[in-house]
Amino acid sequence: MAKLKVGILISGRGSNMQALIEACRKPKFPAEIALVLSNEPAAAGLARTKEAGIATAVLDHRPFKKDRPAFEQALTAVLEKAGVEFVCLAGFMRLLTETFVTHWRDRLINIHPSLLPAFRGLDTHKRALEAGVRLHGCTVHFVRAAMDDGPIIVQAAVPVLAGDDEAKLAARVLAAEHRCYPLALKLAAEKRLRVENERCLIDGAPAQEAALINPPPLMG
Ligand code: GRF
Repeated sequence: MAKLKVGILISGRGSNMQALIEACRKPKFPAEIALVLSNEPAAAGLARTKEAGIATAVLDHRPFKKDRPAFEQALTAVLEKAGVEFVCLAGFMRLLTETFVTHWRDRLINIHPSLLPAFRGLDTHKRALEAGVRLHGCTVHFVRAAMDDGPIIVQAAVPVLAGDDEAKLAARVLAAEHRCYPLALKLAAEKRLRVENERCLIDGAPAQEAALINPPPLMG
């Protein structure tokens, strides 16, 4: 079967992009990276793609001033010219309008560093610590026009531990992100995801019945 041609949109560090690139390097992985596009010319992630020999593009949003539709039209044009069929947002820091999201509907996914629908938006780790949750995590979801909204594909829960600060918690979540994003892309590329009534169904997902309890239950 032909591999799904993926475009990755980044704005910064690109560690999730890197996780996707590494997954796509495996010969049996059902997707390949057609293009990595950054809206930030100085994004650190761009250097990583050049090392990996992957096609990159920069589309700076600034010259478009406040003309978001024109920026997004250009974005779609660049992606489609590269043959992109499916888009992964990986730390892409621009909000996307209804038109773009509709054009790419159910072919556009995002990773967010919280267990959605909790903690949409920024500073999720700080807010999780302030809220005192015992489990935090990350979510890969289909993108809708509302921020950090859309059918959930994969989630990982990680414990919040005594002594955590934002950096420690972020690192634990990020390690989980790097496992979740390739998994979600694999499921999508294998055509195992179906959106019904704005919920994502997964064909052939193994059952996972064990509860993750934090703190672990005391013995005796
Ligand atoms: C990640 O935490 C991701 O969940 C969020 O932005 C961050 C991007 O990090 N959307 P990186 O650029 O992938 O390292």
